[in-house]
Amino acid sequence: MTQDEMKKMVAEAALDYVEAGTVIGIGTGSTANHFIDSLATIKHKIDGAVASSNASAKRLKDHGIPVLDLNSVSELSVYVDGADESNHYLHLIKGGGGALTREKIVAACSHKFVCIADGSKLVDVLGKFPLPIEVIPMARSMIARELVKRGGQPVYREGFTTDNGNVILDVHNLEIMEPVKLEQELNNLPGIVTVGLFAIRPADVLLLGTEDGVRTLT
Ligand code: A5P
Repeated sequence: MTQDEMKKMVAEAALDYVEAGTVIGIGTGSTANHFIDSLATIKHKIDGAVASSNASAKRLKDHGIPVLDLNSVSELSVYVDGADESNHYLHLIKGGGGALTREKIVAACSHKFVCIADGSKLVDVLGKFPLPIEVIPMARSMIARELVKRGGQPVYREGFTTDNGNVILDVHNLEIMEPVKLEQELNNLPGIVTVGLFAIRPADVLLLGTEDGVRTLT
């Protein structure tokens, strides 16, 4: 089975978590795109969706799924999104697609966070995938120096601007032994908008695509 087939398989499995008559949150990336395509088959079941990026909003609209502003919705029943890495505690690295800030906001508003990923994303220790950090442009060099002090090797994602008008530093060489602590610490640095660590609010369920089918981790 290819990686893409695994992504499709978990995206279809995530439909079981969609509650009728509710508004749901939608992530960003190739796995989330498969979920949006699958969601189109049951679109009449939901009241609408809140998207975590302009790209996902467009895909939802193209399928005729109503896209709602988060400010007009009090709660989301479920948030479905992919990840770049997950450990066994369902702490995640996200932001490979650069949508981490809106992803974290939408996840925070959701009762349940269902993460969908192919089997290659499960790791023992987070950090092999460079940690994306969204930064206010004027603070880029200052934050890069702070990350070097912590043993990381930040690389400016050149030519990329987030949906919020900010830039991304991808931090290499981190071995993240204490994800919650690192997320809290980096959250306190002025200039950082969002750290691509989802550990303070981890996923509630991880649907992992494997050769043997969908593996569910909670
Ligand atoms: C987007 O910003 C990311 O957080 C994605 O969720 C993550 O990069 C996973 O992407 P794929 O589903 O394309 O692997």
